[in-house]
Amino acid sequence: MAVYLTTRCRGGVYAPILIRAAQILLNKKGLKNSELSLLLVEDEEMTEINAKWLSRPYTTNVISFPQQSPPIKDNEPLGDIVICIDTARREAHQAGQNLYQRLEALLVHGFAHLLGEDHELGEKEALRMKAVEDELLDILRKEKVMADLCVNVDHVATIRQARLGKEPDPIYAAVLVELAGADGVVVHLREDRRHIQDRDLRLLREIVKTRLTMEMAATQEMLKIACDVKPDIVTLVPERRQELTTEGGLDVVRFEKEIADAVKRLNDSGIPVSIFIDPDSSQIEAAARTKAQCIEIHTGRYAEAQTEEEEDKEFDLIVECAKLARDLGLRVHAGHGLDYRNTPRLVPVAEIEEFSIGHSIVSRAIFVGMEQAVKEMLKIIKGC
Ligand code: PXP
Repeated sequence: MAVYLTTRCRGGVYAPILIRAAQILLNKKGLKNSELSLLLVEDEEMTEINAKWLSRPYTTNVISFPQQSPPIKDNEPLGDIVICIDTARREAHQAGQNLYQRLEALLVHGFAHLLGEDHELGEKEALRMKAVEDELLDILRKEKVMADLCVNVDHVATIRQARLGKEPDPIYAAVLVELAGADGVVVHLREDRRHIQDRDLRLLREIVKTRLTMEMAATQEMLKIACDVKPDIVTLVPERRQELTTEGGLDVVRFEKEIADAVKRLNDSGIPVSIFIDPDSSQIEAAARTKAQCIEIHTGRYAEAQTEEEEDKEFDLIVECAKLARDLGLRVHAGHGLDYRNTPRLVPVAEIEEFSIGHSIVSRAIFVGMEQAVKEMLKIIKGC
């Protein structure tokens, strides 16, 4: 089995992991002895390739050049897949995905074409290709246990607000979180501004280079701020003034219309939306009806379980709900109360693409430093 990858673009950092994904696909499809060539290019070269081979003088996300037609045989070259990293980056941004997740989806699309699928032939063929892509993505999801870690820095601001001063600054924390290798920074702009301030959100929008998640209540004030600041993704959460922290998931069943309106308004501004909900199938089904892109499963009950039995029950519920959400086309995040002890059990849950963790990391950072605290959690989630 040989996968040849050529990168003629920035973003070569994704090469090893794309090669591994391609090798897994070849292996699982019984093509151990086939050759596959991958080429990663930028917009300019993709435009040239499109113009030269497909008579369309513009850039696209992925092109496949099959070297076989079905039935596909092992031992013979399978073909070439060209992926445009610039287009992938734009599409990832629009979908609130990280670049790797988008590249993986494009690899799968290209691979399905090489297997002889073609969505452009008609409705029936498009449905069949979609099923093949889902199957291939599932294969990769099961093999790979590399969710993202997004770090919530609210509590750095909580300490600052204790003296209403300037330190510690959550902006510094965000820089260290990124330097440590996390995939994103999360802040919750609360109505009472008890920790994160408007200034923090706006500065973070300027400096965060990975992914900025804004947690917020679906109020008119917050919707206006989000549409103005444009975080990479919004997570809608319930909010009560008296609570110490977010105490439960959003009741989407009850407020479906209001939440769907908020999702639409944010999506219309180009912002993908995640909804923070309890692991409850009726809430997940309602979340899917709002047309949100993601859910974040509230892991609070799992994290606070007092007995092994209780933890097992909550864990099973999270797994079941994560699967249901994926089946309904929702991406799955998880968060609340996760720490260095209870996160490892959730890591192999293939459907969870992102962990949102704050309190435990900031607490540990007080003693070992922010970079070290983030790196220790990254080791748990990514194994490296
Ligand atoms: N996800 C959501 C939606 C939250 O509201 C919070 C808390 O701000 C978290 C994740 C992080 O929880 P913790 O601070 O307990 O890690």
